[in-house]
Amino acid sequence: MKLEGSVALVTGANRGLGKALVAALVEAGAAKVYAASRDTKKLPANGPRVVPLAFDTTKPEQITAAVKKAGDVTLLINNAGALTSYNVLASSQADLDADFRTNVHGTLAVIRAFLPVLERAPGGATVVNVLSLTSLASFPALGGYSASKAAAYSVTQALRPELKAKRIELLAVLPGPIDTDMVKALPMPKTSPADTARGALAGIARGDEEIFPDPMAQQMGALWNKSHKEFERAFANF
Ligand SMILES: NC(=O)c1ccc[n+]([C@@H]2O[C@H](COP(=O)([O-])OP(=O)(O)OC[C@H]3O[C@@H](n4cnc5c(N)ncnc54)[C@H](OP(=O)(O)O)[C@@H]3O)[C@@H](O)[C@H]2O)c1
Repeated sequence: MKLEGSVALVTGANRGLGKALVAALVEAGAAKVYAASRDTKKLPANGPRVVPLAFDTTKPEQITAAVKKAGDVTLLINNAGALTSYNVLASSQADLDADFRTNVHGTLAVIRAFLPVLERAPGGATVVNVLSLTSLASFPALGGYSASKAAAYSVTQALRPELKAKRIELLAVLPGPIDTDMVKALPMPKTSPADTARGALAGIARGDEEIFPDPMAQQMGALWNKSHKEFERAFANF
């Protein structure tokens, strides 16, 4: 899709990858970017093309109110995500549920609510779900989170043909570790949010259905294409 002139909406835009995606979209020439956050007071100053929008992706009434304010979206980026649970045996049910609530049900709820807006976009629209390499195989130390991201990938695959029939493309971004609050406790090589955002936008512009936006994601994506089993073992032994 053409990023220049698009009207984008990014969830979880107040920090981490979402904040970097907003900046990269402005740099790429988006006409308008809705920066969505649970608390718009936390959004950075972004310039005249960025419009703050308050909603929690797990609160249906807040999503409905946001749809009324952002009726011109042509590019919806579902970036908001939670990492509350860790290894599956040790995590509480409440923590597992929290990851699924945001990463799976919240993402689907936002897509459903924005469907009428996306359907009337002149020239068609694009939805981008920010998933993870852990959507493809579990990273056992983050087993609960991985399961939620795998479920979000399955939902993405389920929606793709349905949305295509409505002239809406559905793309998935599968990053490796990013240097954000989410994984600050995990010592491992990470890509900066700015570089990940640029890689994601390049993939969106090309229309790649699976976007591996950073060097580790590209390396692991190549391994996944070669052998799903080898990919699983590589993560299990990380
Ligand atoms: N960091 C990584 O290594 C990594 C790797 C692969 C994929 N990802 C994915 O990349 C995306 C961005 O993650 P990040 O690394 O930037 O994480 P982050 O720094 O923890 O930021 C998460 C963002 O999501 C928002 N959010 C969480 N739950 C929400 C909800 N219910 N409603 C609205 N907003 C909500 C947060 O808002 P608040 O500030 O209000 O909490 C925050 O803006 C996520 O989908 C994540 O799963 C991250």
